[in-house]
Amino acid sequence: MSFAALWESLLPLGRDAGTGGYRRFSWTAADAECRRWFLHEAAERNLRAITDRNGNLWAWWDPPGTAVSAAAGTGAVVTGSHLDSVPDGGAYDGPLGVVTAFAAIDVLRGQGKVPVRPLAVAAFCEEEGARFGVACLGSRLLAGAIEPARARALADSGGTTFAGAMTAAGQDPAALGPDQALVAGIGAYVELHIEQGRALADLGAAIGVAERIWPHGRWRLTFTGRADHAGTTRLGDRRDPMLAAATTILAARGAAARHGSLATIGKLIAEPGAVNAISSSVTAWLDARAPDEARLHAVVDDVLTQARTAAVAHGVDAGCAQESVTPAVDFDAALRDRMVATLAAAGIRAPVLPTGAGHDAGVLAARVPAGMLFVRNPTGVSHSPAEHAEPGDCATGVTALAAVLGDLACR
Ligand code: GLV
Ligand code: MN
Ligand code: MN
Repeated sequence: MSFAALWESLLPLGRDAGTGGYRRFSWTAADAECRRWFLHEAAERNLRAITDRNGNLWAWWDPPGTAVSAAAGTGAVVTGSHLDSVPDGGAYDGPLGVVTAFAAIDVLRGQGKVPVRPLAVAAFCEEEGARFGVACLGSRLLAGAIEPARARALADSGGTTFAGAMTAAGQDPAALGPDQALVAGIGAYVELHIEQGRALADLGAAIGVAERIWPHGRWRLTFTGRADHAGTTRLGDRRDPMLAAATTILAARGAAARHGSLATIGKLIAEPGAVNAISSSVTAWLDARAPDEARLHAVVDDVLTQARTAAVAHGVDAGCAQESVTPAVDFDAALRDRMVATLAAAGIRAPVLPTGAGHDAGVLAARVPAGMLFVRNPTGVSHSPAEHAEPGDCATGVTALAAVLGDLACR
């Protein structure tokens, strides 16, 4: 099947008619549709489909005469990405890596290639952390980078836990946890992803290879004050948590600029949320990323110090919980150089670039040789319905991924 037809078949699933953005949250109806799409595409290609104990999807192309998937020593090659989205996310962040993976298998088969080691397409669960708060949850669970009990207890905004949502979707949360055998059998993980910046556009290159991921994390800040009447409470008598939150939002911007980093408050919940009442509490989520760990800690400490000072000034209590932190990831140098050489031999110039975006490849890199390919994003916009990649660049992505997988897994 052509990349375009495959892409079109996934495009309507989970798209909001009003915004044009995607709302593919884990274990929802939209997620189930995406999972059915994955299993259908696996079946169409006679790939062995498995949903693992952490809700990640796998479609295995086994070497002829075997049905081994990954087991220690098999050196399986895995490619893929994720199908879930941020609220009103774009079409490409995640799905491009899964669709190009299936399309690359079609290309390899069209070239008469045969795998000499197991080759799998994977789609990882809850990569965005949009519903349950911790990004890359499925790959973290697989790699043993989060306690299963903590994952089970993570709750969405309506109070449904990850365990509850999984159970409702027909999967057993008691089985959550690391899969040592599966991880030990993976010889390489290669994730293709739309670039979430403009570096490739500036360099005039359709494809890039990842060098490293900036360290990054999420912190939940809670400001608790006193609900009161907006029309009668004197200014001096107020304990308004929104004022401390507002100061913190501006503090994030200033601290990021001072520390050569990025810091964002993109989500804020005010309780009880009445127009004519001072809020009783405000919860704000800080997302911070930096070129190195020292600057990440500096920017977060700076924001938290200012948040506490603002809380005292406005008579409110301030609390902070770290939701996730991912250290800097340097991708496997040998795999990176091999991919660059393979692409050069295929006539594809692929600059090597760092990124501030998080990926399952970054989590898996702690356990297996991992690497990433990026496809040019002409505007750099991502986590938005406006995210876009040109069809020609997506086609080059399929060619590039097929070349890399052919080199790593086929003869
Ligand atoms: C994932 O897209 C992230 O970097 O937040
Ligand atoms: Mn994303
Ligand atoms: Mn992504």
